[in-house]
Amino acid sequence: MTSSALRGTPLIERYREFLPMTDATPVISMGEGATPLVRLDKLSECLGLDVHVKLEGLNPTGSFKDRGMCFAMSKAVEQGATAVICASTGNTSAAAAAYAARAGLTCAVIIPGGKIALGKLAQALIYGAKVLAVDGNFDDALRIVRELSENHPIALVNSLNPFRLEGQKTAAFEVCDALGDAPDVLCIPVGNAGNISAYWMGFGEYREAGNSTRLPRMMGFQAEGSAPLVRGEVVTSPETIATAIRIGNPVRGEQAMAAMIDSGGGVDSVTDEEILAAYRMLASSEGVFCEPSSASSVAGLIKAHAAGRFTTGERVVCVLTGNGLKDPDTAIAQSGGVVEIPADYAAAEKALYGD
Ligand code: F0G
Repeated sequence: MTSSALRGTPLIERYREFLPMTDATPVISMGEGATPLVRLDKLSECLGLDVHVKLEGLNPTGSFKDRGMCFAMSKAVEQGATAVICASTGNTSAAAAAYAARAGLTCAVIIPGGKIALGKLAQALIYGAKVLAVDGNFDDALRIVRELSENHPIALVNSLNPFRLEGQKTAAFEVCDALGDAPDVLCIPVGNAGNISAYWMGFGEYREAGNSTRLPRMMGFQAEGSAPLVRGEVVTSPETIATAIRIGNPVRGEQAMAAMIDSGGGVDSVTDEEILAAYRMLASSEGVFCEPSSASSVAGLIKAHAAGRFTTGERVVCVLTGNGLKDPDTAIAQSGGVVEIPADYAAAEKALYGD
């Protein structure tokens, strides 16, 4: 059965044998996962590669975070938690708020003030989370929530929480299922470095179980203004238009570096201009609308290809981590303006076909 045929089945039921589920683990789910893997025909042709994108923006709250959050929330309930907390650049807060609402837990989120995309803020608020905006960045927010979770009975659901990675690794299983084996290369955005670590776990476990035969080269991409893993040091004031990955001190940095090095891949950065060019190209030429941070995987692929890091015909999967609708401000700013016309036929005809 293809993974798309399984949409709606709780992710943690589908991959139960690979997860630390117990008889007491409730299944808190909204039918996450089983996202499409779509071939990019034009980009494949242009680069001489076989390029696919994993559309993680089609998860229930519009990002890959739902994979990890459904499991982290299920385990939190199993362990008797009544409240959860996270720091977030936006998507984690949306997922935490939604799954907490579903599980009947209270949720608090701490976000970097003024630096999260509009749609994500709307989500955290409407799902009913208590939203605190700090005058600082994600790294400051994470430091505060870690301390809060140590001093109060509130479960931390950032990717420090091992169950988050357990849930997220299922995306690697789906990629293998859809392609019949692991790809040659996985290109993925890196922020707090949890997701790349989760994929690496997933590819390893699937091969060990005999469901795939090889491991991909893991290529992680950070935004140039917030690229601590590329620079090899903490970035104290990270900056990028890709606000989801505006992180200067990734918690899973060491684990992610090991994955990239052990797999024969690597880490690199892409500029905001490269990210936005890929973002516009994906939408206007392939019909795929992701958020800017997600486009860094494709921007990175294009950069790595230009640097000669692929062999012709290799199969590449780029993870598009979040839905473009999350960030309408950037989409509008990056597009041609609206043409305003009076409400008559002639004006419309003239605007489309000229005089
Ligand atoms: N892409 C998107 C759209 C994200 O929201 C994130 C992380 C990443 C990529 C990077 O993933 O952190 O596992 O390396 N967002 C987190 C958040 C930090 O708070 O929503 P990572």
